[in-house]
Amino acid sequence: MSAPSPVVAPSILAADFARLAEEARAVEGAADWLHVDVMDNHFVPNLTIGLPVVQSLRAATTIPFDVHLMIEDPRRWAPGYADAGAYNVTFHVEASDDPVSLAKDLRAAGAKAGLAIDRDTSIEPYLDLLPSFDTLLIMTIKAGFGGQKFLPAMLDKVAAARRHARAGHLELRIEVDGGIAEETIAQAAEAGADAFVAGTAVYSAQDPAEAVRKLRGIAARAMAEP
Ligand code: DX5
Ligand code: ZN
Repeated sequence: MSAPSPVVAPSILAADFARLAEEARAVEGAADWLHVDVMDNHFVPNLTIGLPVVQSLRAATTIPFDVHLMIEDPRRWAPGYADAGAYNVTFHVEASDDPVSLAKDLRAAGAKAGLAIDRDTSIEPYLDLLPSFDTLLIMTIKAGFGGQKFLPAMLDKVAAARRHARAGHLELRIEVDGGIAEETIAQAAEAGADAFVAGTAVYSAQDPAEAVRKLRGIAARAMAEP
């Protein structure tokens, strides 16, 4: 089986919230997924956008949505994002008492199911849950704010998850989120990540679509190395 091609997901957290539709269209044709950070001012101190905004934005672009829920009580809210047409809905393991059952509900609602692991959470206790998920998001910063510095120590978790997925023949996208840029994406790819969220590196660029293509090129080369 050949390795899947890398997914690059620009995070609209770094976009201009007054022009979200335009900012989404600026990466159309280049981005694989659009990463949408939902924060509730409880699970994380920051507050961003919720379901009504995601519903409106869904109608404004063709890019599949990768919704990253940094919220408490995901069981209550996550299926709504699947119903709104999100391609992938990711919730945090730290916020969920029954991740496998919520993953089932998300899949039943037509979305891929994603599990997120924050900076201070180790991966080992959750490896056995991975067959129930399509994506695993490993934070390479502390969840809550964009523009933080990439933490290379988090790549040990990526490597452990990739080993586990390979050994179990799981079809699992491993996504890294936080501080991903031209300088950091290759090491994440080498550790076993194959989906890459990038906020600042895409939306602070002169040409966001070109920034996405450049990141994908670097990741693809790193993933192709033996
Ligand atoms: C932060 C969010 C990230 C954020 C990444 O908690 O989950 O998706 O947008 O931003 P950068 O790429 O700027 O680190
Ligand atoms: Zn995110």
